[in-house]
Amino acid sequence: MKKPILILGFAGSLRKDSYNKALLRTAAELVPEDVQIEIFDLGGVPPFNQDLEDQPPDKVKEFKVKIRAADALLIATPEYNYGVPGVLKNAIDWGSRPYGDNVFDGKPVALMSASTGMLGGARAQYQLRQTFVALNMFALNRPEVTVRFADEKIDENGKVTDEETRQRIKKLVESLASWTRRLKA
Ligand code: FNR
Repeated sequence: MKKPILILGFAGSLRKDSYNKALLRTAAELVPEDVQIEIFDLGGVPPFNQDLEDQPPDKVKEFKVKIRAADALLIATPEYNYGVPGVLKNAIDWGSRPYGDNVFDGKPVALMSASTGMLGGARAQYQLRQTFVALNMFALNRPEVTVRFADEKIDENGKVTDEETRQRIKKLVESLASWTRRLKA
């Protein structure tokens, strides 16, 4: 049996009933046997302040430890005003600092996005991909998981009910696991 791949998932929304958190839960449900997904909540990560980067707040320390321990990352994010939500960019900025201590360096990463709009958060995904270049992350290109009209595909209990979306998420996790193994080889 292959050594399990540990994936850390986090969402760019703090909302309790977030559709993006629902995508992450679905990913964790549908993982193959040799993959584990742990979900980290960005709630409580304070605004980035460079004065504190050498001794960051506890929540940031915890985030950085979890990222270091993970073989790969899975980010699910909404799009806010055609871009990356501040909450997510803020957490990424913390993780990238201080200079020389970028926890994202060399990590494989996959993206999902859900929005109530018709583009499913695609613009936020492309912005994030630019940031991944700055961080020296290795982003998975396919499959693309952009869940548009998310309110029609996720029920009031936070379950992804749309079968096509579930299959895409499953495929994404499988692809991220094999991408991670390829990079490790
Ligand atoms: C949005 N929403 C949104 N949707 C979209 O497709 N493109 C956009 O640019 C925006 N902009 C935007 C800005 C702000 C401040 C909010 C609060 C919302 C709608 C968004 O897709 C919807 O609220 C999702 O439900 C947010 O994701 P979570 O919280 O359900 O994960």
